[in-house]
Amino acid sequence: MSLPSHVRLVEVGPRDGLQNEKQPIGVADKVRLVDDLSAAGLAYIEVGSFVSPKWVPQMAGSAEVFAGIDRRSGVTYAALTPNLQGLEAALAAGVREVAVFAAASEAFSQRNINCSIAESLKRFEPVMDAAQRHGVRVRGYVSCVLGCPYDGAVSARQVAVVCRELQAMGCHEVSLGDTIGVGTAGAVRHLFEVVGREVPRERLAGHFHDTYGQALANIYASLLEGIAVFDASVAGLGGCPYARGATGNVASEDVVYLLQGLGIETGVNLAGLIEAGQRISRVLGRESASRVARARSARE
Ligand code: HMG
Ligand code: MG
Repeated sequence: MSLPSHVRLVEVGPRDGLQNEKQPIGVADKVRLVDDLSAAGLAYIEVGSFVSPKWVPQMAGSAEVFAGIDRRSGVTYAALTPNLQGLEAALAAGVREVAVFAAASEAFSQRNINCSIAESLKRFEPVMDAAQRHGVRVRGYVSCVLGCPYDGAVSARQVAVVCRELQAMGCHEVSLGDTIGVGTAGAVRHLFEVVGREVPRERLAGHFHDTYGQALANIYASLLEGIAVFDASVAGLGGCPYARGATGNVASEDVVYLLQGLGIETGVNLAGLIEAGQRISRVLGRESASRVARARSARE
């Protein structure tokens, strides 16, 4: 299969990245990050989550962040909503695209959203209905597609079943999350082969955490399978509070660099993206996890 000519990047740093930080991060710094990202040409930014603040304290200020950002036309500003309560809060904050999140393993579903996979899908039904009534699009996530921190191996077949359900429910796209970053390129190709029989590939996205350093190889493997949407996190921020030891997503800067080298359009300005990553890394008091950003700053 030939590579796609264009890839859509879903920037998840402000959500997947910052949700896992121990230190408090102010609303102003979050707003600045989102604005820096849209200025760098990211057309889809996950800004925050409307989840229980007891479960994920870092996302508690998401409504304020939505109120503070400079909304550029043509940019999608999305939020996670695990249930109807979350969706209602998101709607009140003026959110026009949300995401529901399920898992491919039972143990992770319990730890992350306190219910079984089947219960979570049931819980999403009123979310889908209300979103549809308000003309809000819903993206779906499936976690632990290549392994679970509690259950170990996860079958591609099981992932395909959950993806099919989310699509049937009305999710316009389903993002496959390697939550703990254990996947390798061969497993990724097999996964998309199996899931691609249930959900058209143009409706699938890859979401690779880089814990084992495999994320860029996994993105390349996904491109070979015809996948053209990838989630990534500026400066490689992040992790999952319910997957101990899992590091951040693949760094957006490194993905853009890879895609540029392949002649694939993203619409993103790499220099602006690197700057956005350097700024938030300074706020967090540590070096960016993007290898490209580090290489560029070492050269300067
Ligand atoms: P629960 O405790 O079963 O919920 O949690 P509940 O319905 O029994 O409610 C309990 C309390 O939570 C109540 O408050 C509710 O009001 C409140 P109380 O009466 O005790 O004061 N509550 C809420 N508050 C704010 N917003 C809401 C909300 N819902 C209930 N939406 C629940 C169930 C789903 C709420 C909880 O488990 C939760 O919030 N989980 C979120 C976990 C999370 O955000 N994880 C990280 C994101 S997923 C991820 O990172 C993976 C991904 O990146 C892909 C990948 O890498 O794999 C997407
Ligand atoms: Mg994630």
